[in-house]
Amino acid sequence: MERKELLYTGKAKKMYATNQETVLLAEYLNQVTSLNGAKKEKIEGKGELNNQITGLIFNYLAEKEIASHYIQEVSKTEQLIKKVEMIPLEVVVRNTSAGSFAKRFSMEEGIDLPFPIIEFYYKNDKLDDPFINDSHVKMLNVAKDEDVIEIKKQALEINAALVEMFRKIAIRLIDFKIEFGKTADGKIILADEISPDTCRLWDMNTKKHLDKDLYRRDLGDVIPVYVEVLQRLKNM
Ligand code: ADP
Ligand code: TMP
Repeated sequence: MERKELLYTGKAKKMYATNQETVLLAEYLNQVTSLNGAKKEKIEGKGELNNQITGLIFNYLAEKEIASHYIQEVSKTEQLIKKVEMIPLEVVVRNTSAGSFAKRFSMEEGIDLPFPIIEFYYKNDKLDDPFINDSHVKMLNVAKDEDVIEIKKQALEINAALVEMFRKIAIRLIDFKIEFGKTADGKIILADEISPDTCRLWDMNTKKHLDKDLYRRDLGDVIPVYVEVLQRLKNM
């Protein structure tokens, strides 16, 4: 597979065309951002960590019969993915109170929720990715009612598989963000990435943050904890 023209530069990845129409190449960048890009830093080594972590997680999900866009890793920082039409939603699943949820409900962080909570954010940088509900999704033509049902179903299945996977490596999956896309034949599949950039991961015993909250909250260096997550996944 040959890397062709650069199609898009995002906050965490560059997307390239390939010599195959239906396949893209995602290059994971050494960049960390928060506040929708307002806070940004170059961090050596981060791209290869998230490329590998995402690959291992998507492979694990495939074993559990959860389809995604992931094809294969092609270099330390690059992976091939199926090209999809992205649905402009950030789908957040929460198992435990934290972050914006804890703030919204004036709740302490770390309280287990009675059932997984699914939230939608409209992926729109100009609007700062606002929190929206099913009616807004329909009104904005982001997705049809039946697509929303399918997205929620898959989000819960992905959550169940990830909770189990992280439990095996002594990590508590607090919450995470995923994105979905539509294939040419109209199937909705998991796309983008799943990494410590997009999940809150707490060590089960020490409650240590093993994720991007270290950067968001100026608590320390992300690289050693991303290395730790990768090592635990490799040893699973
Ligand atoms: P952002 O756009 O939020 O800065 P990234 O830097 O991660 O995020 O850029 C990757 C972009 O590629 C995202 O906008 C994401 O929605 C999109 N994307 C992810 N997977 C696919 C895919 N399989 N096909 C097409 N686009 C994708
Ligand atoms: P939040 O508590 O800030 O709303 O974040 C919920 C989860 O979603 C958390 O695991 C971080 C992840 N997330 C992203 O991956 N990208 C984003 O832009 C935001 C706001 C959250």
